[in-house]
Amino acid sequence: MTTTSILFPIIITFIFLLTTNLLLNVTASQPITFPTLAIHTTTVSSNDFAVTVMPTLSAYYFVEARIGLPRFPVNLALSTTIPTTWVQSADCVVCLDVPSKSMNFEPADGFEPVLGDDTKYCVPPVAKTATLGDPCRYVLGFSQGILGNDTFSLVSPPSTSSPPSSLEINHFIFGVGKQNTVNFGAHSPIVGQLGLGKGHPSSTLSQLNISRFSYCLPPSNSNHQNTTATLEFGPKAGLTTAYYYNTPIVEGPPDHPFDYYLNLTEIAVNNASVYTPSKQRRGEPGFVIDVGATVTLLYKEAYIRVKDAVMEYLSSNFGLYPVYPSRPVTKPPTYELCYYNQDLESITTLAYPNISFHFEGGAVLQLPESQAFHNFVDELQTCLVMIPKTGTEPSRLGASQQRGWRFTYDLLQSELSFAPNGC
Ligand SMILES: *[C@@H]1O[C@H](CO)[C@@H](O)[C@H](O)[C@H]1NC(C)=O
Ligand SMILES: *[C@@H]1O[C@H](CO)[C@@H](O)[C@H](O)[C@H]1NC(C)=O
Ligand SMILES: *[C@@H]1O[C@H](CO)[C@@H](O)[C@H](O)[C@H]1NC(C)=O
Ligand SMILES: *[C@@H]1O[C@H](CO)[C@@H](O)[C@H](O)[C@H]1NC(C)=O
Ligand SMILES: *[C@@H]1O[C@H](CO)[C@@H](O)[C@H](O)[C@H]1NC(C)=O
Ligand SMILES: *[C@@H]1O[C@H](CO)[C@@H](O)[C@H](O)[C@H]1NC(C)=O
Repeated sequence: MTTTSILFPIIITFIFLLTTNLLLNVTASQPITFPTLAIHTTTVSSNDFAVTVMPTLSAYYFVEARIGLPRFPVNLALSTTIPTTWVQSADCVVCLDVPSKSMNFEPADGFEPVLGDDTKYCVPPVAKTATLGDPCRYVLGFSQGILGNDTFSLVSPPSTSSPPSSLEINHFIFGVGKQNTVNFGAHSPIVGQLGLGKGHPSSTLSQLNISRFSYCLPPSNSNHQNTTATLEFGPKAGLTTAYYYNTPIVEGPPDHPFDYYLNLTEIAVNNASVYTPSKQRRGEPGFVIDVGATVTLLYKEAYIRVKDAVMEYLSSNFGLYPVYPSRPVTKPPTYELCYYNQDLESITTLAYPNISFHFEGGAVLQLPESQAFHNFVDELQTCLVMIPKTGTEPSRLGASQQRGWRFTYDLLQSELSFAPNGC
């Protein structure tokens, strides 16, 4: 009797594992439990400053800003991987394909280049040193040009009644983009990036003296006139949600000083762990949250485990097999795991697998089906919208997989909080 009661949980676990294995034929999976202790509560409900966040069709998210006097309107894509804000200049050599006119930055309009190599703004890794008297040049991933300063403001949604309705900064340092190689999609309204990365004197956050910000991303097909999705700044940013998960923001490698690295502990498919990162594994590149990446890029090992688990689940439970050989659905990016819509629609009981990302401290980001799979109507296929990556760049949790959640970055606490239904 005693033996039985001791063995009972072990037997149950064994039966569970056996059943899971028989059903899904996933040999490496371990069932994991979802912690509940990590959920925090709050009652504060006001924000310091909020700006409307709008989507483009290709899942870039942007805010509206004004530069100079008279105020020139610019749409800037959110980026958490670069610290400094930049805007395309009318005299660009390599230019974004934008329908609107770009701004000519002239001293007559209040614009001043940041001169010399003796200011704290002109230091690597953002800026290259300049000769005294010459404007300092910046190089930020997709854009190069000179640093300058002008009046800069972010515009609040009209509905926000609490002051200030516009955040205005005199002598704001930003990049004037002369060579801009990023592709925001055809006829995108975006003419630059609002840098929200940490770490450099020229960063938007240091200049605003802000150590906390929060955003929520609306679906990319939403009518942006109606969206309540916001980017919030200040000590109370993001505190409107009732409960949330917390995970530490950790230091990345020295060559990624601006990125927000997270300690990923697990990726699970239907509550079964399919991937556990290991610092010992060669090539394991770490995991960052990246609002400027449209979709999630996963370290190849991790992607294969997720893909295999999704395939096993759909074949064992519904007799579904992917399109093979897989072919590009959109380019770029290309997706490796796709199913014909006709096959999916023939199964009335179809339930997509739940994919979740688990982080240090018990934080769980469970992706709704619509964020893990996308129906490409024109191609008659539905694909897993994640991309395997090789090389030493970190895995990136992209914007498409962040939609609907509210993410709050606290640089003083080195903590990321997130909550569902945050828009
Ligand atoms: C910004 O421009 C003003 C003139 O408009 C100038 O006095 C100031 O030195 C500039 N700041 C920097 C850091 O270049
Ligand atoms: C920045 O903000 C902190 C409080 O958040 C304040 O103590 C400090 O004086 C501010 N610094 C500047 C330069 O405004
Ligand atoms: C947006 O709001 C307008 C009027 O406020 C309404 O007519 C329209 O249906 C709304 N669109 C969506 C997608 O909710
Ligand atoms: C993140 O993970 C690394 C490696 O496992 C560990 O050394 C570090 O302490 C973790 N960071 C935090 C803030 O928990
Ligand atoms: C996964 O865990 C959640 C929360 O604990 C639970 O609601 C759900 O039913 C579980 N799903 C499976 C397939 O076990
Ligand atoms: C996915 O999660 C939802 C909510 O927890 C649950 O209702 C559903 O059954 C899960 N789907 C699968 C395939 O386990």
